[in-house]
Amino acid sequence: MEGVVDAGVRQLISEIGGVDFCVTEFMRVTTELQPRRAFMRICPELLTASQTPQGTPVHFQLLGSDPQLLAAHAEKAARLGAQVIDLNFGCPAKTVNRHKGGAVLLQTPELIHDIVAACSKVLATTPARLTAKMRLGYEDTHQVYDNHRAIEAGGATELVVHARTKTDGYKPPAHWHWLHRLREVSRIPIIGNGEIWSIEDYQECRKVSGCRDIMLGRGLLADPYLSRRILDDNPQLPSQADLSAALLIYLRRMQLKECPDKFLLARGKQWLGMIKKGLVPVDHLFDAVKTCRDAGQMFRLLEQSAAGERHYAHYLPEPATGLA
Ligand SMILES: Cc1cc2nc3c(=O)[nH]c(=O)nc-3n(C[C@H](O)[C@H](O)[C@H](O)COP(=O)(O)O)c2cc1C
Repeated sequence: MEGVVDAGVRQLISEIGGVDFCVTEFMRVTTELQPRRAFMRICPELLTASQTPQGTPVHFQLLGSDPQLLAAHAEKAARLGAQVIDLNFGCPAKTVNRHKGGAVLLQTPELIHDIVAACSKVLATTPARLTAKMRLGYEDTHQVYDNHRAIEAGGATELVVHARTKTDGYKPPAHWHWLHRLREVSRIPIIGNGEIWSIEDYQECRKVSGCRDIMLGRGLLADPYLSRRILDDNPQLPSQADLSAALLIYLRRMQLKECPDKFLLARGKQWLGMIKKGLVPVDHLFDAVKTCRDAGQMFRLLEQSAAGERHYAHYLPEPATGLA
């Protein structure tokens, strides 16, 4: 997730467990081939066989509209070590759509086909494979089958479907029954996505859609223990202390990597904002951190909070690999 799920977040989530793979933030492909360092910035895991330190595979995501240029980026990512290249046909952001990337392409299934086919052709000469992610449509669902067919015929091996249109934005509900309809015509696996905040949502989505695999989005940031709780079928919500401890480990590691205080403060506030949207009440902590002017103040508040009762200390990394 762009601006949110960096390599540090992927590391923490895969340490807690329950995820089969992670996806990078998207690389925007516009006019020219990006240099190697841009690939490494988005996906430092390229240096470690495209896996997090715990061995969870990381897929490299591209976003753009020029088939040949996207294919050149897919090939470069593969040559740099990406095992799976994912194409984004779901981003609703205005700036991205204005430049003909993301969900806007769902209005032109022919172009989607050309993009997927061009990328899959170059990847055939590498060990990497191609996947894609789409929404149900741009304004409505009338082209959903055309887009699915374009992606399947183009050579993608798997498709994540965020069960909303671009116009739906992130408004609930997600229309999981569409996942079932797509599965009925699909030869490639469909991974369901949208509005999974709890174990119950996960179970209901699997039941309605029939999808074997589900992709978690905001729900996993609101509760980084969710994937592990799903795996263990553990209904116990994390406490505020559990959430603070996870956030602290992430921020402390970023601090060790010499991220500036401004970044740490912004990330801490941003992540707490996402936690606030989840099922565990953190309003007081959120309000207190919101007013922090420096990172030290935020760290002190998070440390106080993390000292409270925890249910999931055992899911977090050992101090040796976690907090220094
Ligand atoms: C801040 C933010 C950034 C996102 N960035 C990406 C992205 O880079 N690539 C992508 O495929 N989806 C991205 N998404 C979409 C999510 O991956 C997911 O499909 C969407 O939020 C629906 O799932 P959810 O309801 O469980 O959150 C982003 C969503 C948000 C809220």
